[in-house]
Amino acid sequence: MNKLVLATRNKNKIEEMKALVSGLGIEILSTLDFPELEEVDEDQPTLEGNALKKARYVHSITGLPSLSDDTGLEVDALDGAPGVYSARYAGENVTYQDNVLKILTELEGEKERSARFRTVVALVTSEDENLFHGVCNGEILTEQRGDKGFGYDPVFKPEGYDQTFAELSSEIKNEISHRGRAVQKFIEFLNK
Ligand code: IMP
Repeated sequence: MNKLVLATRNKNKIEEMKALVSGLGIEILSTLDFPELEEVDEDQPTLEGNALKKARYVHSITGLPSLSDDTGLEVDALDGAPGVYSARYAGENVTYQDNVLKILTELEGEKERSARFRTVVALVTSEDENLFHGVCNGEILTEQRGDKGFGYDPVFKPEGYDQTFAELSSEIKNEISHRGRAVQKFIEFLNK
């Protein structure tokens, strides 16, 4: 493999995934390098389904190995919500801040705040399709802290750390995060 297309136009994800795969000696492209690619509707009921849908589409148009990521935040006190619906938790076309505020409101007064990020990474090539999973356990704080990262990072404190993902360096986030763990499995697969 000498080229890989990251099947996303999310600049934060591109940055994180590029940092993770930078040592592989592979030219890393993304959806942003192919203006002909259309937005993929993430309408599948599972992270696996959405990840595969995005990577299959990008592979079908570019002909190149394509790697996608679909991520969900599962909050135990909300019976696993928002899960696969994390991007549109506060509604269609909302900001990260809208979703963060919605989680804080839903959990107001709640003591049990355990949660986890779950990522499914899909690799689609001309030969086959593979899925890689990554989980990061933690808890939802009662207020936002930090200005790094994106999405729900300001309210998510990973297990074993005192800081939120938005306070930790990108190096540490990449080492312990859901996405970092899933991409690490992809790298192990490539090295086999
Ligand atoms: P998707 O994988 O782009 O569908 O992401 C689902 C939702 O989770 C979006 O609202 C993202 O902003 C959020 N999200 C995805 N990855 C992360 C992360 O690493 N930290 C915080 N929020 C994330």
